[in-house]
Amino acid sequence: MNTKVNICGVELKNPVMTASGTFGSGREYSEFVDLNKLGAVVVKGVADKPWNGNPAPRIAEVYGGMLNSVGLQNPGVDYFIENDIPFLRQFDTKIIVNVCGHSIEEYTNVVKKLQGQDVDLLELNISCPNVSEGGMAFGTDPLMVEKVVNEVKKAADKPLIVKLSPNVTDITEIARAAVSGGADGLSLINTLTGMKIDIYKRQPILYRKIGGMSGPAVKPVAVRMVYQVCKAVDVPVIGMGGISNAEDAIEFIMAGATGVSIGTANFINPRATIETVEGIEEYMRKYDVKDLKEIRGIID
Ligand code: FUM
Repeated sequence: MNTKVNICGVELKNPVMTASGTFGSGREYSEFVDLNKLGAVVVKGVADKPWNGNPAPRIAEVYGGMLNSVGLQNPGVDYFIENDIPFLRQFDTKIIVNVCGHSIEEYTNVVKKLQGQDVDLLELNISCPNVSEGGMAFGTDPLMVEKVVNEVKKAADKPLIVKLSPNVTDITEIARAAVSGGADGLSLINTLTGMKIDIYKRQPILYRKIGGMSGPAVKPVAVRMVYQVCKAVDVPVIGMGGISNAEDAIEFIMAGATGVSIGTANFINPRATIETVEGIEEYMRKYDVKDLKEIRGIID
């Protein structure tokens, strides 16, 4: 049985990884999760300087998921290089760095600092809905997407995956723009914008009013978008959005995804990633799937 997958020339022992922002740098979860068993750890967004994130409240529970408005709080790339890379390198897993910025220059600064560092892949975050500059503001305009990807790609010495926002009319247009800018792979979906109102206080729950929704309720939207993108472009896709278990992960693989990321489910079940790895193996044994290629993208 072969669970290995190849993402932009990097071989992962299995397709299961963490979704950026839901697993820190892996340290927080390493008590519960054997990181050696994961295909990759995708770390929280890394900026060129430390960011404080948004004021609280920045999390709200909703039916079938949650809203977040964290605002990409992170200690910056220098801290990441000094502390998180050495920590993660103790484990036999791949490291994918989610790169964030408010401007092309800031994105490029991070990628330049990561040149020569012992990480495997970069994930360009042009889809966070919780910052007023950069993030989703860049990722919803095809011309901008192509320009940012093109500029960042020039500075990258690792394959560049671009993380897409679902908050667009036609996801395939954005996917094509990213690929024509030089993306080696794509990941999707980031969160769907949403809002929750406290009717007793007569005010939004989140300080910033609007946040990003994730969790099981967004899964059908995510599967649809992954399916459409996999038909539209010819680069590896990492699928995510509401994956909680192996059945969910296999849906994404059948829709065309090469890798799958688990996000919100980690907050409910810290072992969701490991159980998904085990569940995929069980499915492969039970249905005599020798290689994940046999089921990838089998939906016409
Ligand atoms: O607000 C946040 O930190 C979310 C990041 C993202 O959706 O990429």
